[in-house]
Amino acid sequence: MAGGPIASGPGLGANAGKNKFSGILMVSFAAFAGILFGYDTGTIAGITAMKDWLRLFGEPSTDLVNHPTGYAITSSQQSLVTSILSAGTFFGALAGASIADRVGRRGGVFIATAVFSAGVALQTGCHQWAAFVVGRVLAGLGVGLISTLIPMYQSECAPKWIRGAVVSGYQWAITIGLLLASVINNATKDRDDHSAWRIPTGIQLIWAFILTVGMLWLPESPRFLIKQGRDADAAKALSRLTALDPSDPEVEVELNDIRANLREEQELGESSYADCFKASHNKIALRTLSGIFIQAWQQLTGINFIFYYGTSFFTHAGIKNPFLTQVATGVVNVFMTIPGMWGIERFGRRPLLIWGAVVMCICEYLVAIIGVTISVQNSSGQKALVALVCIYIAAFACTWGPIAWVVIGEIYPLNVRAKAMSLAAASNWLWNFGIGYATPYLVNTGPGNAGLEVKVFFIWGSTCACCVIFSYFCIPETKGLSLEQIDLLYQNSTPITSTRYRRELIANDVHTSDVHGAPGKSLHVDEKDEADKV
Ligand code: BGC
Repeated sequence: MAGGPIASGPGLGANAGKNKFSGILMVSFAAFAGILFGYDTGTIAGITAMKDWLRLFGEPSTDLVNHPTGYAITSSQQSLVTSILSAGTFFGALAGASIADRVGRRGGVFIATAVFSAGVALQTGCHQWAAFVVGRVLAGLGVGLISTLIPMYQSECAPKWIRGAVVSGYQWAITIGLLLASVINNATKDRDDHSAWRIPTGIQLIWAFILTVGMLWLPESPRFLIKQGRDADAAKALSRLTALDPSDPEVEVELNDIRANLREEQELGESSYADCFKASHNKIALRTLSGIFIQAWQQLTGINFIFYYGTSFFTHAGIKNPFLTQVATGVVNVFMTIPGMWGIERFGRRPLLIWGAVVMCICEYLVAIIGVTISVQNSSGQKALVALVCIYIAAFACTWGPIAWVVIGEIYPLNVRAKAMSLAAASNWLWNFGIGYATPYLVNTGPGNAGLEVKVFFIWGSTCACCVIFSYFCIPETKGLSLEQIDLLYQNSTPITSTRYRRELIANDVHTSDVHGAPGKSLHVDEKDEADKV
């Protein structure tokens, strides 16, 4: 691929998009899938604590201190039912690659919702433990598929000037799903029959139905269609997304750029997973590893410590109403994702990642320091802890929460995009599982546990410091570039110099044909003044 796949073009609807909102609305709708993701991961902890669920799947217990409902499941059952979802999501995310490349990005979403619905139906209707566990695996496969397919679909279909905000909408839906799960669980938890857990479980069929029906109206990704050689369909899809006629010159230019890009990539033959780690002129290995690690570091910020173990952590810290605190953290997560959606297009990916990690790092060290120095009776100390945790979540919600998904949707070239994205999404689930599994052992006291308690925040603070270093050295600024221009950015700059090079790309409006076909149109730093305004 001499010269690299550097078609740029104006990006989908670059000029037309600003006044034609129908395409943006369509691609934004796909974000609804985040509800399935957030709700499913958020609901299980509450369900497995419900009396009727424990009565059906567990055994009577006389230890009313640890099992106030009078029923309990064994630790291995608890760990199986919680972690089995991660097994499903991990393999689902990986399977997303071949489904996306064979059936399509949009087509794959239908498979995801079908598998997810089968899993939910099984969990809702079953009376046997084994069936419930199989239902969790299937639902997990569906969620994992979604986590690869949706950011890919949105990144490939959204106009470049608003791509970051649109993909952030998916994260926003995840946060809403998490909040809905805690609110609905709380509303049904005191029912004394199967409806206590069947309502919050079964309600997920409604989310899957809405997503399926909505996706029926959306076009397939034009980039996928071009890859399949279905050029006429690609023109139609692009015309729906840009609200322009299929024969409009702007649509033509965009399709030509995607085609040119793909042709160059295809000269190298069908790409394999090994190709994702190849040392190449367009730094594929760096890009694949950056995606895998940005998702790992997102989990290592410690965010799910709050969402999975927040209730018991706040109780041990002496906070009087841990449930309300948990709802408060969920609300902060939802509302603070909104400024993130704006900020990602205003300030860019790099500064938000770096400053978000700095704020999280400071908050987490402060929580650790205050936590080890004050007594649990100190009510102002408690309030300070809750406030710091809320600031920490706010910082996550408007930076690392959405941006990790935005970055993995946009940093790969088309020939390895599905595979590299599936590796990055699978990394998220692997770390999600690992941290969820290890946390009780790290935090709890007693034999076999590290007994860190609030000191665990020293670990999260340190991992956030690593997030700052990682973002600085590994994540380039990609705001406002087309997916093909991002390839050019990787070829000709480093993450540290990317901010300036990006401005030059935009100011010079670089296309593949400009760089290869018309040598006169190269990048001139003397045009920097204009670029600085971008
Ligand atoms: C993460 C999830 C997390 C959620 C919180 C997502 O981006 O991948 O693990 O629970 O954000 O909002």
